[in-house]
Amino acid sequence: IRLAVLASGRGSNLQAILDAIAAGTLAAEVVGVFSDKPGALALQRARDAGIHAEALRARGFASRDAFDAALFERVDAVHPDLIVCAGYMRIIGAAAVEARPGRMVNIHPSLLPLFKGLHTHQSALDAGETEHGASVHYVTAELDGGPVIAQARVPVLPGDDADALAARVLSREHPLLLETLRWIASGRIALHEHSVHVDGGRL
Ligand code: GRF
Repeated sequence: IRLAVLASGRGSNLQAILDAIAAGTLAAEVVGVFSDKPGALALQRARDAGIHAEALRARGFASRDAFDAALFERVDAVHPDLIVCAGYMRIIGAAAVEARPGRMVNIHPSLLPLFKGLHTHQSALDAGETEHGASVHYVTAELDGGPVIAQARVPVLPGDDADALAARVLSREHPLLLETLRWIASGRIALHEHSVHVDGGRL
């Protein structure tokens, strides 16, 4: 399976994908890494691995759709089977999403549908949650609202601040994302008509 990865920052999820491919535990190829932030560490990780890496700044584009069109023209040029949003912090407009049904997934640091959007760890603490986690879901036009494929849970521990909780969640994000990509790569999981199907049957 050919993967394009979209990332705005650190890229530890990207690195987990690259490491798994190198170790032979994920049958995939990262054919391009794309960012809205030229300084993203994710781009450097890609270049270090000899992978095509490109950034496009949103500034100067007349609209969200105009930016998306330019970005996804570059993404499409590497012919990915699946587009993985791994810490990609820009909202992708409905037009770009709907042109790629079932071909985009996102990892989000909460137990969706709880805590969509930003600052999920602080929000979980403020809400007094005893559990938190991460979700991998298909991307739809609704922000962080597409069908969930899999989740990982962690406890919220006494004395946690947002950073401590984020680190605990992140350690579970990497195996969660890898397992999900294995399922998709092997054809076990697919999106049909807005719902997740496993082995050809509805979840
Ligand atoms: C992760 O927590 C991811 O769930 C969120 O942004 C963070 C990205 O981390 N959307 P990294 O760039 O993969 O290290």
